Amino acid sequence: MRRALSSVLVLLSSAAWASEGFFQSEVVDAVAVKQAPKGTQDAAWSAAPAKPFSLAPQRTIRLHDKQANAVLQRAGATELVVRAVTTGTELALLLEWADATQDVVREDEVNSYADSAAVQVPVSFGKGQRLPAISMGDDEQPVRLWLQRATKAGSQLTALQAAGFGSSTRQGPATAPQGMMTFDANGKRWRAQFQVPLDAKSALVPVSFAVWEGGVRLERAGNKRLSSWRFVRVPGRTPDADYVASVSWGFGPKELGDAANGKTLVEAICTSCHHVPGRAVAPEGLAPSLVDIGAIATPAYLRESVVAPSAVILFGPNPNQHYDKSAQRDPNGAYPNAEAFQWFTVGPGGKRASKMPSFEKFPPEQLADIVAFLRTLDGRGTP
Ligand code: HEC
Repeated sequence: MRRALSSVLVLLSSAAWASEGFFQSEVVDAVAVKQAPKGTQDAAWSAAPAKPFSLAPQRTIRLHDKQANAVLQRAGATELVVRAVTTGTELALLLEWADATQDVVREDEVNSYADSAAVQVPVSFGKGQRLPAISMGDDEQPVRLWLQRATKAGSQLTALQAAGFGSSTRQGPATAPQGMMTFDANGKRWRAQFQVPLDAKSALVPVSFAVWEGGVRLERAGNKRLSSWRFVRVPGRTPDADYVASVSWGFGPKELGDAANGKTLVEAICTSCHHVPGRAVAPEGLAPSLVDIGAIATPAYLRESVVAPSAVILFGPNPNQHYDKSAQRDPNGAYPNAEAFQWFTVGPGGKRASKMPSFEKFPPEQLADIVAFLRTLDGRGTP
């Protein structure tokens, strides 16, 4: 009996310890305010704790722009500082990041690119729900997105709902976006404020962030730098313990294994399809690049990707990049897409299955080593 009790205590305290690391590195504590801040210089912001997060280039899909893609290839991690305040019905977020040049456009300009920022929040989240794919959600878990583009007049805001790349639709007027962007020309830093609705219950809100540098880096659309899912803790509410346990997996002291061993395993088993730093032998686009996957994926997502690849199925790269020139042209003269570059197969009833084999049968220690290694790919050391 005493033994059972003490092991329960050990379990409880190790769970608390595990989530401590998670709250420290992944969670922004929102501060309660009576009124939403009026802008990026509002005094409310100075009372909100600043949390630094790392953003890494999005490499899962590519634009049809060699120059922009080349710039993205060279890009490393960017630091984004996030602050949050809440009125209880609304969450205001302040994003701040360094940018050497202020690139603004006219509202009607489409051929030049503006510095921009975005936040995304799952449409639904909480106990028992997995997080959406970081790349604008997926079929089962759509996201809401708020985008802000720097213009000569200030900024242009758009609210969208998406379930994967290329699937976005505008949110209705009920969610009319609010926010603003300001550039500090001396400090060479952008500040962007976003206001997103908050329901009455949520205590831990998943949010992810993206920024674009429209000038020299030619970033727009999918060419951006983004974060993995992070969380805003709402003051005065207690996060559900099960939810915390599921999203904080991998932040505890002993949950992840040995990264050096993981590296050996990944280089031996995974690089026939994936790219990792220093090892890009597979044809580009055969599978998503893992070069900085650790910056954009949570440990729980990484583990799931390896044991249950079909849990989240990613849209492939732009399939038109991979014509099958040995195949028959269609009546319009176009080659079909090469089947090898399709990331999933479609079975009976339209059910999609990942082309990645499951590594579910791997010894748990080896899986923990693999995840530990993938976590180290945080964009800071690349390429
Ligand atoms: C036969 C090719 C193949 C092999 C081998 C393979 N994968 Fe994959 N992997 C894929 C494909 C295709 C996808 C994208 C489809 C999907 O969503 O599952 C993918 C997706 C992933 C993702 C999600 C990436 C993202 O951007 O969200 C991770 C992580 C991953 N694989 C890790 C691994 C690891 C680790 C190994 C080795 C233990 C491995 N893969 C072996 C083909 C492969």
